[in-house]
Amino acid sequence: MEEQDHVYVPRLLTGDAMAELAALDRPLVVGREEPPTREEMLAGVAGAAAVVCTLTERVDAAVLDAAGPQLRVVANTAVGFDNVDVAAARERGVVVTNTPGVLDRATADLTMGLVLAVARRIAEGDRLLRRGTPWVWGPRMMVGLDLSAGATLGIVGFGRIGRAVARRARAFDLRVVATPTRAALDDDERAATEFLELPELLRRSDVVSLHCPLTPDTRHLVRAETLALVQPHALLVNTARGGVVDTDALVAALQEGRIGGAALDVFEDEPDVDPRLLELENVVLTPHLGSAAAATRSAMCRLAVANAAAVLAGRPAPTPVP
Ligand code: GLV
Repeated sequence: MEEQDHVYVPRLLTGDAMAELAALDRPLVVGREEPPTREEMLAGVAGAAAVVCTLTERVDAAVLDAAGPQLRVVANTAVGFDNVDVAAARERGVVVTNTPGVLDRATADLTMGLVLAVARRIAEGDRLLRRGTPWVWGPRMMVGLDLSAGATLGIVGFGRIGRAVARRARAFDLRVVATPTRAALDDDERAATEFLELPELLRRSDVVSLHCPLTPDTRHLVRAETLALVQPHALLVNTARGGVVDTDALVAALQEGRIGGAALDVFEDEPDVDPRLLELENVVLTPHLGSAAAATRSAMCRLAVANAAAVLAGRPAPTPVP
């Protein structure tokens, strides 16, 4: 099916966002629940004026060219936009938008869940019971990291999500350190946070949580040489993007006991999960659930639609990528 000047929506969005798309009074080409194949993507985009996509679709120069010169906006339903070739879009006069601000709290909630799960061995305990392993309470049984006994949480990327994590972490009596930020902080936040360059943050933290975007500068920010700086009991939490961590280096550090554990919501080759991670008891794994909460998903999808609608109507997009 090839429309002209249509809105291409490769994956179903939330019901309210789909209704708003239908009300745009433009032809719609809608995919399905699952991601499109590359061929479906190239076919669906042909002739489109707008694409409202998700983080699973790669929007590169080939997709932009397949769309044609009438394409005006790529509205990504995610705050991260590493799946979109922004430079190629700009060269073609296409606006790229993302969904900042609406998913900070949900992602920070999941992050705290993962911090607790890996520090207090919650998922490991759940697996133990499900396996039917005999157990009895004991003073030395499944003892984890005591977060509220002066542990330090190191936040890499002190943007909206990192700061939302910091607010939650303080309620758990964690000491918060973070990498330097350009964000405008209020006085309380500034007073409650110690800013450290990455190497020192890695040396000092009991838990390191990643909240930076994936860019050429942050790809494999966590790799053999940076992992060498962490304390052997330290825990790594990643709810950012899989590519920020070199999986091979992390697996080696975990296997050799050079790091205490990890909780990972994102992976380098999503949806594939490195099978070596599945073997490690001190690793908690979730399938990219950071923003997977009902009101948050609705807000993300509706913001993506609002971005597309604005550009199609000749107005500025509410949230263009920076
Ligand atoms: C999810 O990973 C997002 O970038 O919104």
